[in-house]
Amino acid sequence: PSAATAPEPLPKAELHLHIEGTLEPELAFALAERNGVALPYSTEDELRRAYSFDDLQSFLNLYYALMAVLRTEDDFADLAHAYLARAREQGVRHAEIFFDPQAHTGRGVPIATVINGLARALDSAQETYGISTRLIMCFLRDESADSALATFEAARPFLDKITAVGLDSAEVGHPPSKFKEVFALAREAGLKCVAHAGEEGPPAYVWEALDVLGVDRIDHGVRSLEDERLVARLAAEQVPLTVCPLSNVRLRVIDDLADHPLPAMLDAGLLVTVNSDDPAYFGGYAGDNFTAVRDALGLDAETLRTLARNSFRASFLDEAARAAYL
Ligand code: ADE
Ligand code: ZN
Repeated sequence: PSAATAPEPLPKAELHLHIEGTLEPELAFALAERNGVALPYSTEDELRRAYSFDDLQSFLNLYYALMAVLRTEDDFADLAHAYLARAREQGVRHAEIFFDPQAHTGRGVPIATVINGLARALDSAQETYGISTRLIMCFLRDESADSALATFEAARPFLDKITAVGLDSAEVGHPPSKFKEVFALAREAGLKCVAHAGEEGPPAYVWEALDVLGVDRIDHGVRSLEDERLVARLAAEQVPLTVCPLSNVRLRVIDDLADHPLPAMLDAGLLVTVNSDDPAYFGGYAGDNFTAVRDALGLDAETLRTLARNSFRASFLDEAARAAYL
């Protein structure tokens, strides 16, 4: 269809989006040049050809390596602006955005640079893109509990810019209970809590995220289906699950999008949402994920509207702002 007749994409909230995972090859090369950082790829095409992953870790290796180009406040602001522009084209009206401070402080970039750069872009997001935003600070679960605690203390002066804490990176071998203390501090400070669980890790990690960390949402959670009692709990409490279909296929959590458990999750009465995770690496932004599940799973218009409505229901928007979308 021509631009004039193309339908407006369904308004939706993006609840599972790593800002570092929106770094497109074009911007990576531009920032490498600006900062005098050498990349181990000579062209954007060569870099794109490296986007073929066997599992979560093989993706994380590239994800962390490419972050070397992010050095200044301007870099973080430019990254967020590029994401917001793409998100708006895909119907995103509200975005709750993860960032990984330890992936930057570990390279000598101060946490103030990261948060101030991102916050500068997000401050203009409503006016410039018509997107309301929240920031979610994630701890890297393959780093120590002490490192997470030190990161939380370093972020204290900036907590007015942060809505929630999260937990990400290599899941297996790093159960949520390892981060009990820092999540308790975050909750005491008035922050919401989320955690990646049940992506590659077992249902036991989802139980721990709920019972030990007291999370408000589970990120991914697709492996919850292996535990009937867990499904019943998640459904009864309407705990939101931020599912990322294209990510699941690219990281081989699921063999084929046509076999994705999204319909089974909806049938089980779970509060599921559809999100993009690391769209620069996994082949699509929020709207692309909606289109992909529609086509691969044959979802009808009513189901797509339910998924979009769920994204606002599961958001950290206040009641009044949420009501405007429901
Ligand atoms: N960091 C960025 N993307 C992630 C994912 N899908 N799982 C865990 N950590 C991540
Ligand atoms: Zn994620």
